[in-house]
Amino acid sequence: MYTLGIETSCDETSVAVVAKRKVSSCKTFSSIRLHAKYGGVIPEIASRRHLKFIDHVTTLALKDAGIRAKDIGLVAVTREPGLIGSLLVGLRFAESLAYSLDVPLLGIDHLHAHLFAAFLDRPKVTLPFLGLVASGGHTQIYRVNDLFQFRLIAQTRDDACGEALDKVGRYYGLGFPAGAKIDSLFRAEWVEERLFRMKSLERFDFSFSGIKTKAVYLHDQLQKEGTLTEKRVTGILSSFQYAVVDSLINNLTRSVKKFKIGTVVCGGGVVANSLLRARLADLRKSLGLELLLPPIKYCQDNAAGVAGLGEYLYAKRKP
Ligand code: KG4
Ligand code: ZN
Repeated sequence: MYTLGIETSCDETSVAVVAKRKVSSCKTFSSIRLHAKYGGVIPEIASRRHLKFIDHVTTLALKDAGIRAKDIGLVAVTREPGLIGSLLVGLRFAESLAYSLDVPLLGIDHLHAHLFAAFLDRPKVTLPFLGLVASGGHTQIYRVNDLFQFRLIAQTRDDACGEALDKVGRYYGLGFPAGAKIDSLFRAEWVEERLFRMKSLERFDFSFSGIKTKAVYLHDQLQKEGTLTEKRVTGILSSFQYAVVDSLINNLTRSVKKFKIGTVVCGGGVVANSLLRARLADLRKSLGLELLLPPIKYCQDNAAGVAGLGEYLYAKRKP
């Protein structure tokens, strides 16, 4: 049976076809270029782009999978969280499609789908696990015993990790979004570990707004002094990325130790980050973990995780 997944929670219009966790196709149109000049995603533009392209992206996904609409046995769609106008386009489209094909429709949590992307094209789903979602809109750690119940054990109290990277990068002239650009200019040897110190919070929660503000003040101060050179900017952004990644790794490590769970699953756009992936690999070795990361193409918003999780939940549902 083929499951068709639809994701429209933010600026990506994505449609995927999945069967037995194998991705037959995943087509994604992004409207990010249109938002870049505003320095952030404009909800009205995002929803209008979804409306314009969803039909076409669906046709492409079916074609790429080599199937026809009547071969679909289930439609899964991102239900929340996300931009309301964008979500509504995907939801209404999915409802109409499921109704016209007379197949069931399942609403999927966007963050859970980010994590499920790590199980795609793999032989099994390992449970229980600790799940780290690190994206432009979210930073959470979940404890997952079964995929019907994600228990939130940590979240950000202010900015998401990707949001902090984007805002600081934008302030330093890298445009929007800036996460991947900061990643590519990162120089480990120029990191000043003491430049961005994180406050330790109770539980395993995150906070990035303090170091974000420090980065902004530093920029203005150096600019005033005339010492904001390209080398200095690279050093500051490398140190900033280092601090963000360090916080993700520290809280994840503490969670693994507290809950004694040996499998870690990660998802979300920031999981494409090279330093984070390297630090996670170190953590896997030092704690003897099973570590599951999606390939880079399924880190950012995509419908493959939505279809995969929909298929899994539908198959395991209680009658
Ligand atoms: O998961 P995603 O596509 O959208 C949300 O659900 O938020 O994540 C987008 C975020 C942006 O903040 C972007 O800057 C960040 O992922 N990002 C990265 C990298 N690639 C994308 N951050 C750090 N390093 C990267 N290589
Ligand atoms: Zn996302």
